Amino acid sequence: MADLPYDGEDVDQLAHALQAGTLAVAAGSRPALVAAALLHDVGRLPHVEATLPQAPHERAGAAYVTGLLGAEAGWLVGSHVLAKRALVATDPDYLALLSPTSVRTLAEQGGPASGGEVERFLRHRLAADAMDLRRWDDRAKNPAARPLPIEQLLDAALG
Ligand SMILES: [Fe+2]
Repeated sequence: MADLPYDGEDVDQLAHALQAGTLAVAAGSRPALVAAALLHDVGRLPHVEATLPQAPHERAGAAYVTGLLGAEAGWLVGSHVLAKRALVATDPDYLALLSPTSVRTLAEQGGPASGGEVERFLRHRLAADAMDLRRWDDRAKNPAARPLPIEQLLDAALG
């Protein structure tokens, strides 16, 4: 993931993953949520993307993480784009927190979630976790951040 560019962001995919995982650990998250934060963009890795070439990265990532770590972490990975769309639709301050790239991709991802989509999403028992993960995702783009080492993050992710 190091040196794999992150679609115009200021950090590469490895730094982004480590920062997201570190924010999850700092929030006292359980292992499945740390794992999902760490791996939420794993569907952007070429060998994972290739498993579902027509699907958006969150779906390839969800399938991969479900196989690796189970349904809970997999659902969280698969929901990080819907969580963004739901947050845009429900929190008037949220859009201003997104990076320019993330604002641009919002349109490609379907724009703000519809009322029905938000309602269905919020009914899921992991919706609050998915929104926490999404906010860590949005913050994990800081070139000056000092994330935890990968060994410590894997310990926290694997319980
Ligand atoms: Fe991300």
